[in-house]
Order: sequence, then C-alpha cells, then structure tokens
Amino acid sequence: MGRLVIAPIDLSRSNLRILDTGAADGRWLVDLHASLSSTLGHQYIGFDSLSKLFSTNLPSQITLREQRIDATWQAKWQGSFDYVHQRLVLPGSEHMTHQETVTNPCQLVKPGGWIELIEQDHDSPNMGGMAKAKQVVRDIFTHAGCDYDYPHKLCEFLDKAGMEDIKVQVFDIPIGVLSPDPEMGAKSIWQVRSALEGFMPTARGIECSLPREELEDMPDFTERELKRVGGYQRLFVAYGHRPSTST
Ligand SMILES: C[S@@+](CC[C@H](N)C(=O)[O-])C[C@H]1O[C@@H](n2cnc3c(N)ncnc32)[C@H](O)[C@@H]1O
Repeated sequence: MGRLVIAPIDLSRSNLRILDTGAADGRWLVDLHASLSSTLGHQYIGFDSLSKLFSTNLPSQITLREQRIDATWQAKWQGSFDYVHQRLVLPGSEHMTHQETVTNPCQLVKPGGWIELIEQDHDSPNMGGMAKAKQVVRDIFTHAGCDYDYPHKLCEFLDKAGMEDIKVQVFDIPIGVLSPDPEMGAKSIWQVRSALEGFMPTARGIECSLPREELEDMPDFTERELKRVGGYQRLFVAYGHRPSTST
C-alpha cells in the first residue's frame, strides 16, 4: 500500500502504545518501529494465537504475546492503546461474530485513539491471475457457512462498536508481473503460492466449483498466470477513532 499506517494518527507524538492484533512474527511492528525515531518512547505490542510464529531478537520496545482475537481480553488492556492495527486476521475469528471480534479491540483503544482494520476482498473485479484462486477461497468460506463480504462491512462494524470519523480506503495492489518492483512482484507470487498450498487440504475436502483436475492445478495455474499477466489483491482499509469522551 506504500504506507504502514493509513489512519490519520500522529505517530510523532511521544510515548504511544501501539498494538497489532494477529501480529504473526511481528513483521509490521518491526517495520513500523524501524520507520520511527526510537527516541519517541513508543511501546509496540503484538498479539497472535500462535506464539510459535514469534520472532526472537526483536528490538526491546517490541513485545509479542499469545492472545486470540476471539477470546476475552484482560481488563488491564482496556482503553490502554493509542493505536490498534489489525491486518488480515478477521477470518481467524472462530468463537465470536465478526461484529464482536471488532468491538473487542475497539474497547482496547484509549479515548481519542485510533483503530485500523485491513481485510482482503475475495470477490473484486479484475483479479487477473488470481481469479481461479479466489473462486476456491469463496467456496471454502461458503462451505464453512461464512460470508466472504466481511471486508465491505468493516465500517459498519466500527460504527456499531461506537467509533467515530470512520473512513474506508480501497487499495488494488498489483502483484506478480504487474508489481512496479520486480522483487516485490516475485515475493508476492511466493506469498500467494504458499497461501494457496495451505488452502488445498481444505479445498480437497469440500464441494468445490472447480473440476478436480483444475483444483489440483490451481496453485501452479495461479503462479503461471501471475508470472504471465499478473493480478490484483483488493484491500479494504477502514479506520475510526474512539470518542474522546468515552470512558
Ligand atoms: C494472514 S496472517 C496476517 C499476519 C499479519 N497481520 C500481517 O498482515 O502480516 C493471519 C495471522 O492471524 C493470526 N490469527 C488467526 N486467527 C487468529 C485468532 N483467532 N486470534 C489471534 N490471531 C489469529 C495467525 O496466526 C496469523 O499470524
């Protein structure tokens, strides 16, 4: 997206508490920490359900903790963060509705602080080489009894959670040969290919709209198409701030 933060938060203020939910190895926190002066005194905290992903040797200002987004949060976290960021994690919510899974981190935001949610659309036009892969992703969501239109509902979720000044921005990220940066283009193909391999065991076990042979070829097909014509991943970025007067 060209930027690590889309919400209009002023990160040049001192001593901010920044939370990334579904932080994986802490990559986004590491990048954000590296992009800002260490003299600002910010604390960078990441939660993820899988502590085995956590990087070691992180800068001392970054802490990672095991915590699910669809579980109860400790009282001490409530209203304690200036900025909460969550990217591509909502589908991992198994024990709560999407609305509850958004409302909970909104309550972690300090009055006047910001939350930013980023999710990928699986049904956008002009996906290029991603079209067949996205068909399988939609089949998986449908089989699981979930909607795949949750990226379109992020503003509604934030509104119902009591956030204000809510906005959404849509980014069509060019991947594969369409990426302006060949290194990023190659990385995007590797990332998509790895993710699709991860979906295959599930896809094989459901009624899939692709014929079996096409399904088995889908990761190879997608890689070939991304190298040949490229593709797009559409991201919805929604953000809002907690009313300054909230308690
Ligand atoms: C697609 S990755 C995104 C990682 C990171 N946010 C990023 O954008 O680079 C999804 C991450 O969410 C985590 N995750 C999935 N379900 C979760 C849950 N219920 N609670 C907490 N983390 C979860 C996964 O372990 C994984 O690290």
